[in-house]
Amino acid sequence: MSFQLTDEQLMIQTMVRDFAREVLLPTAMERDRTKEFPRGNLKKMGELGLMGMMIPPEYNGAGADTVSYALALQEVAYACASTAVVMSVHNSIVCETINRFGTEEQKQTYLKPLARGEVIGAFAMTEPNAGSDPVNQSTSAVRDQDHYIINGTKRFITSGKNAGVTIITAKTDPAKRHKGISAFIIEKGTPGFLVGKTEEKMGLCASDTTDLIFDNCRIPARNLLGQEGDGFKIAMTSLDSGRIGIAAQSVGVAKAALDAAVSYAREREQFGQPISKFQGLRWMLADMATEIEAAWQLTLSAAAKKDRDERYTMEASMAKLFASEMVNRVTAKALQIHGGYGYTKEYPVERFYRDARVFTIYEGTSEIQRVVIANHLLGDRYVGSLR
Ligand code: CAA
Repeated sequence: MSFQLTDEQLMIQTMVRDFAREVLLPTAMERDRTKEFPRGNLKKMGELGLMGMMIPPEYNGAGADTVSYALALQEVAYACASTAVVMSVHNSIVCETINRFGTEEQKQTYLKPLARGEVIGAFAMTEPNAGSDPVNQSTSAVRDQDHYIINGTKRFITSGKNAGVTIITAKTDPAKRHKGISAFIIEKGTPGFLVGKTEEKMGLCASDTTDLIFDNCRIPARNLLGQEGDGFKIAMTSLDSGRIGIAAQSVGVAKAALDAAVSYAREREQFGQPISKFQGLRWMLADMATEIEAAWQLTLSAAAKKDRDERYTMEASMAKLFASEMVNRVTAKALQIHGGYGYTKEYPVERFYRDARVFTIYEGTSEIQRVVIANHLLGDRYVGSLR
């Protein structure tokens, strides 16, 4: 199915493209070097409606659909992948989660400033010993009258240091396995909530990834998201949407790598002619463009299914799986086309290559996406043909 974007979707894409290429792109290389969190740019993105894209206007959101969100995220990722991951986690696994599962009070208190981009959101489920298998997390939440006391350590948390609001999952009843996991909203500065070590990473350097430590952290019981025991399903539902974001992010970075490769191949001369004249390179470029388009169609298809309010778990995993693996192939080829220069910091392709590496790992590894897809094909959740 090919997509006809609406005038509104095209308008959003143009607006975000202009912003991203004028404001984010010129400083992306410098941010990668300094590792400076893009706080000022995120504030501007909040003013443009990019930090609560799928949130209704009554909670300060833009009320946009998921297709528009994927278009916007792709444009931001084209310019700066570090900014894109903050935007993706904030929009899909924080704002959307509170909008979907939060009480009116939680939406008024937390969603409104998040959707304006005044506060950045984080999502903390992963632990040192529970990555792909979050049911085996060990952070605990023990009810004490009208509070919960949280103890445990979360790991690899995107925006952990810079977030003002964090959604965390913790065990309220360890005997009940996934049904004993609950989700909570925690504010920065709550006593007993500490930011631990910041990871030194290969890529996405301007986005912080940290440990979060909970040491007898008391939070009001009204900060429970949904009901006790809902935490795992809330996390899985949120990750379905998050995976569309990572697919769009992958497409954005891949397009940036392709454009860089095309312009380099046109300019660089060897053997008396531009290297773009050599069939070996032309075929590489053709394969790159074809794979990008395939990934984008999968992303749009999952986003459109979500917008139609249909179950889209499998499609989101397919888009995330294919797009994240695609961008690793495409950035590697773009670097190869640049030859020795591609391996230097003089050109942006080495950054694209490093940034893309984590896309097959976070928000569910490629192996987990295959588990999700196979479960849907072979289990009772699969209802016939793919469409
Ligand atoms: N939507 C709603 N419910 C879902 C669901 C979904 N997508 N997937 C599973 N569930 C429900 C099931 O229906 C089931 O509920 P019932 O018992 O009521 O039937 C329950 O959850 C358990 O399901 P499974 O038996 O399938 O669970 P599992 O333990 O086998 O795990 C898994 C499934 C897919 C492997 C899951 O553990 C998973 O996704 N793991 C990867 C975790 C992950 O993606 N981590 C990323 C962290 S966030 C991050 O990276 C953000 C960042 O900072 C960038």
